[in-house]
Amino acid sequence: MDDLFSVIFEHLPNPSLVVAQDRRIIFANRAARVAFASVLIGKDLALTFRHPDVLNAVDRSITEGMAEIGEFAIPGPLAQVYELHTVPISELPVGGKIRGCILLSLHDKTKAARSEEMRADFVANASHELRSPLSAILGFIETLQGPASDDESARFRFLAIMGREAERMNRLIDDLLHLSRVEIDEHVRPRGMVDLVACIGTVFDLLEPRARSKSMTLDLITREPVKRINGDSDQLIQVFRNLIENAIHYGAENTPVKVTIESRVDRPNAPENGIAVHVTDQGDGIAGQHIPRLTERFYRIDNARTRHLTKAPVSTGLGLAIVKHIINRHRGRLKIESELGTGSTFSVFLPVD
Ligand SMILES: Nc1ncnc2c1ncn2[C@@H]1O[C@H](COP(=O)(O)OP(=O)(O)O)[C@@H](O)[C@H]1O
Ligand SMILES: [Mg+2]
Repeated sequence: MDDLFSVIFEHLPNPSLVVAQDRRIIFANRAARVAFASVLIGKDLALTFRHPDVLNAVDRSITEGMAEIGEFAIPGPLAQVYELHTVPISELPVGGKIRGCILLSLHDKTKAARSEEMRADFVANASHELRSPLSAILGFIETLQGPASDDESARFRFLAIMGREAERMNRLIDDLLHLSRVEIDEHVRPRGMVDLVACIGTVFDLLEPRARSKSMTLDLITREPVKRINGDSDQLIQVFRNLIENAIHYGAENTPVKVTIESRVDRPNAPENGIAVHVTDQGDGIAGQHIPRLTERFYRIDNARTRHLTKAPVSTGLGLAIVKHIINRHRGRLKIESELGTGSTFSVFLPVD
């Protein structure tokens, strides 16, 4: 019997620990050891979980003999949220009898918490951003129904504008949905193997016509063979597509967009221990004060220079936010360097395991 229960406990999907009266950890199942690599068996629970909410719940269960339910978050760039349950067990018939211990089981609620947060953000941002094209469309409908109802040329003009505004709403909705899907998966490491040169080739094929329309070339520069890396190739294609699309959009006519792939193996364990992809354009560049904010959702630099660039796809201000979240999921890093009047380089660093 003992063995049966230990085997079951070991394989329970939720991280579960048994804690003694003096708060030492007696057992931790596999899920707990995987989720918290530093579980210290035989040591005070506080050495594994510093979080006061966990320790207080366990302490109360020990002194009062009552079950508790609570929630706690482990802060970090990708905060994790857990629900915790403590259950006092009067006697544990394992390995001799252990009296009065606490079963602490945890339930990872990160995904649920994240989607709740995103749902709230989505509603606020989307309604704000969708309102302006919608107001424009409603305004033109009113004009076409009233003062301009017999005006043939106004009808053509207004319908064209209404079409563009509707397209903008469509693009916004696509990008918002895309962003939220990326965010939901952000704390799950991608499992595929990716050939970066092939990804960039796919993006070049897609964007070549747009580059040609501005007499720009797309140049790929690799100095050494590029290792395949761990990642999600659809998402990485999305990253390079957004960066190269921006480089074409904001780069000057008759200039090249250069994509350089570099293997950087010089610093073990640092983010630089991997591959770097630099996307360089020769455009107007970006003023320093904007750079840290570019990856925020909906952040756009609205200046006279960029407002007239209407050839490119509708700007939503979500492209770099999507890029950032995908790179986070790959445990990589985005670096933006730019000089006004010269151009910009967006560098993606991806780890190689
Ligand atoms: N290569 C670039 N050169 C100059 N400005 C850029 C470049 N890439 C991005 N930006 C600026 O960053 C903002 C955010 O970019 P992004 O998130 O892709 O949104 P979008 O392209 O939809 O406007 C852009 O509006 C633009 O002002
Ligand atoms: Mg963009």
